[in-house]
Amino acid sequence: MNILVVGSGGREHALCWAIAASPLCSRLWCAPGNAGIAEQADCVAIAADDLDRLVDFAVGHGVDLVVVGPEVPLVMGLVDRLAAAGIKAFGPSAAAAALEGSKGFMKDLCARYGIPGAGYRRFSDAEAAKAHVRAQGVPIVVKADGLAAGKGVTVARSVEEALAAIDEAMLAGRFGSAGREVVVEEFLDGEEVSFFALVDGDHALPLASAQDHKAAYDGDTGPNTGGMGAYSPAPVLTPALEARVIAEIVTPTVRAMAAEGRPFTGVLFAGLMIVAGPDGPRPLLLEYNVRFGDPECQVLLRRLMSDLVPALLAACDGELKNFQLRWYPETALCVVMAAKGYPGDYGKGSVIEGLDQAGRDEAVTVFHAATARDADGRWLANGGRVLGVTATGANVAAAQAAAYRAVDVLRWPDGFCRRDIGWRAVGR
Ligand code: AMP
Ligand code: GLY
Repeated sequence: MNILVVGSGGREHALCWAIAASPLCSRLWCAPGNAGIAEQADCVAIAADDLDRLVDFAVGHGVDLVVVGPEVPLVMGLVDRLAAAGIKAFGPSAAAAALEGSKGFMKDLCARYGIPGAGYRRFSDAEAAKAHVRAQGVPIVVKADGLAAGKGVTVARSVEEALAAIDEAMLAGRFGSAGREVVVEEFLDGEEVSFFALVDGDHALPLASAQDHKAAYDGDTGPNTGGMGAYSPAPVLTPALEARVIAEIVTPTVRAMAAEGRPFTGVLFAGLMIVAGPDGPRPLLLEYNVRFGDPECQVLLRRLMSDLVPALLAACDGELKNFQLRWYPETALCVVMAAKGYPGDYGKGSVIEGLDQAGRDEAVTVFHAATARDADGRWLANGGRVLGVTATGANVAAAQAAAYRAVDVLRWPDGFCRRDIGWRAVGR
C-alpha cells in the first residue's frame, strides 16, 4: 500500500515508525514531516492544513490510505475531502470531529445521552457568562468552544481570573472565532488519565490508558504545554475503572454519534478525571480529542506488538468488531526534550549530539518532534518540543530509568526536559 501520514510532530514520527514496519506498507510519505521522520518516510513539503494540496498529492501519487495526525485538518474536513476523491483515510469526518472541535457540541451530546462529566452551561454572551461565574463562585472552568491549540481552557481559582478568561476569549478575540462562544464548567477534583480506543463507526476497540504531564517544569509547575512526557499504561486506571470507562463513556459516545448521523471513525481520545465518590473512585469525562495524543501516541505505539496498519484499515472499513490487538506487557515512558524557553519564545537551529548513541539501547526509541539536518548531517532543533525519548521497561520505574539514561547521553545544551516524568505511577 501507498500510505500518507499528515502532520509533523513526535506523534507523526511514531505513526510513521509503526507504519514503516508493516509488511503492508510499500511506500510511505509524510506531509510535512521533519528530519527524523525522513528516516522512515519521504517528507513532502505540504502543510497539514493545506487541504487542497494534500488531496491533490494523494490523488496524484496513488495513495491508498491517509493517516491524519493532528486535529486541525480533521475539523476542517480533510477526511471528507479525501473520501470525495475516493481515497481511504483514517480519522473522523468533520461532523464527527466536532467532538473535539466544539466543546459545546460535545457537552450537549453527553448531556443528551447521559454520559457522565462536569456540569456546564454554554454562553454566546459575555455578560451572561460573567453573571453565571459570579453566581457559581470558584473554582470554575472556562473553555473556548473551538480549537485553541491547547490554550483555550482556564481553570480559574478566583472570580477575577474567570472573568478575565471570558473577556479574553469573547471580547478580545484571543482565540479568534473559536472563542466567540464559551463553555463554563463545574470544576472536577481528582486525578487525570487518558484512555484511547479505535472506532469504526459503530464499534470501539480499546487501546490503552496513558497519563501525560502538561506542566513545563518538575513537580507539575510552570506554564501549560502540549505535553512534556507520558507513560502507558496508567496504573490509576485499574481494570475495573477501565471497564467503566468503556461501558459508561466510550461505548455510549460511539452509539450517540451514530444515532446523531455523525458516525465516528478514527481514534477517540477520552480525557478523564477519576473523582472520589461515595462508592469509590469513578471516571468522569473531561474532554474528547479525535486523534492520538502527542506524546501519548509515542508510548502507545511503543507497546503495540501487532501490526498497526491492519488495525487502521479495520477502523476505516467498519471491521473492528472481531479485531484483536496484541500488546507488550511492559510500560512505555516518553520524556519530551524541548528547546529552552518553550512554551514561550525559544531559538531554533541549535545542534543536538549523541542521538545515535542514545538510540542504541534496545529499550529506547527517540522520536523526533521538530528536527532538521544541516549540510554536514548534524541534527538541529527546529521547534519547541523537539524530541520524545521513549523507553520500555518491566515497570514504570524501569522505563523511567531507561528513558533518562538515554536523555543523559544526549548533548544538547539548549534543550531541557522534566526529570520527573511518571512520578505519580512510580509513587504508586
Ligand atoms: P485541554 O487539554 O487544553 O483542553 O486542557 C484541559 C485541561 O484543563 C485538562 O487536562 C484538565 O487539567 C483541565 N480541566 C478541563 N476541564 C476541567 C474540569 N471540569 N475540572 C477540572 N479541570 C479541568
Ligand atoms: N498531550 C495531550 C494532547 O495531545 O492533547
